[in-house]
Amino acid sequence: MTSLIQATDATLSREPVDLVLTSGERPSTPTQTVLIELGDRSYPIVIGQGLLGKANTYATLPPAASAFVVTNTMVESLYADALRADLASRYAKVHCVVLPDGEAHKTWQTLNLIFDALLQHGCDRNTVLFALGGGVVGDMTGFAAASFMRGVPFVQVPTTLLAQVDSSVGGKTGINHPLGKNMIGAFHQPLLVVCDLDTLDTLPARELSAGLAEVIKYGPIYDMDFMAWLESHIDALRACDRVALAHAVRCSCEIKAAVVGADEREAGLRAILNFGHTFGHAIESGMGYGVWLHGEGVGAGMLMAAELSRRLGLVDAAFCARLRALVARAGLPVRAPVLDANDNAGRYLELMRVDKKAQAGEIRFVLIDGPGKAVLRTAPDALVREVVNTCCAPA
Ligand code: NAD
Ligand code: GLY
Repeated sequence: MTSLIQATDATLSREPVDLVLTSGERPSTPTQTVLIELGDRSYPIVIGQGLLGKANTYATLPPAASAFVVTNTMVESLYADALRADLASRYAKVHCVVLPDGEAHKTWQTLNLIFDALLQHGCDRNTVLFALGGGVVGDMTGFAAASFMRGVPFVQVPTTLLAQVDSSVGGKTGINHPLGKNMIGAFHQPLLVVCDLDTLDTLPARELSAGLAEVIKYGPIYDMDFMAWLESHIDALRACDRVALAHAVRCSCEIKAAVVGADEREAGLRAILNFGHTFGHAIESGMGYGVWLHGEGVGAGMLMAAELSRRLGLVDAAFCARLRALVARAGLPVRAPVLDANDNAGRYLELMRVDKKAQAGEIRFVLIDGPGKAVLRTAPDALVREVVNTCCAPA
């Protein structure tokens, strides 16, 4: 077994923001900005309330001839008019394409709908794409922007918690393949990320919980103080408390910014952001895309990865129990699903060998090497089988 990478300790200051009362009665949080530092590809993540519906949210973007909004049927009905109105004051033309909703549509066929609409509307290299929606819309819009006319600029306007804390940041874009999750894609950084916390008001509770999985992951891999903060604010987060959400989104983006800033193309360190994802992706593709939400797969996957870490002597049982309690309190499933009644562990292993981190068929897991520190390691199949059997067993 080889230890390949190691996370550094967190040194960021993350004091919770104060509550501010605006002229109306509605409590609000101040707008905050986190910078992703990538040289000439650096960009801000703006986090706040009421950002949709404000034309000056986009004032820093360079001039362009037209804007092209990509969204889906659900989000279009909620937020597309507001974004289109914001953009109308800056762009001579604002076009829009509405995709079918759901992980099952993160495919070549749906991607092609974006290209069809771009070409039908006469869009060119002076068009800026705007991804309005969750991670599915964001990943597909980013991939379309990376490849349309060999690359056009794009902006992320994430409307799910998961997208605000993770998928809209860092430039990973792509689609699924029937044989593996996120297998086709490109690195392409956005010009700007706009996280309007008010959009989370309409998010179903199950989707909010799925987003919390990606928030929780930042604790074990990078910052146990953040994990402790989550333990005392998880109920507030599930209740959509603005101040708590603003803090969670900002901390998550700061940690992601630090990791991506150090390793944009996942030569090493960035792999830690995939804690729980090797098992989780197997769950998603093994169950059929969309049956388990991405965040649900990550939640159960983190517990499997923690259990594997324990069996390798890297963490103790108390750490696993602590993580499990937090995942449960976030409203996420803690028991992994059975993917094959005959050889469940074998099916997990088969699916995980397709993982992008695998090398020559050898699976490399993101494991916890003591709380707050992640490593990328291989593990014997027999041990992985034991973990699958334990984590999928009925309670
Ligand atoms: P999603 O995009 O499917 O959105 C979840 C659901 O919420 C959808 O039905 C959507 O229409 C709906 N929705 C979106 N915003 C809403 C709102 N404000 N109110 C009501 N409903 C709303 O799923 P997701 O969890 O946002 O993203 C998951 C995807 O992100 C997966 O495909 C995953 O692979 C990807 N991802 C990518 C990265 C990356 O770095 N690029 C990181 C993590 C996850
Ligand atoms: N969500 C994993 C990454 O951005 O690297």
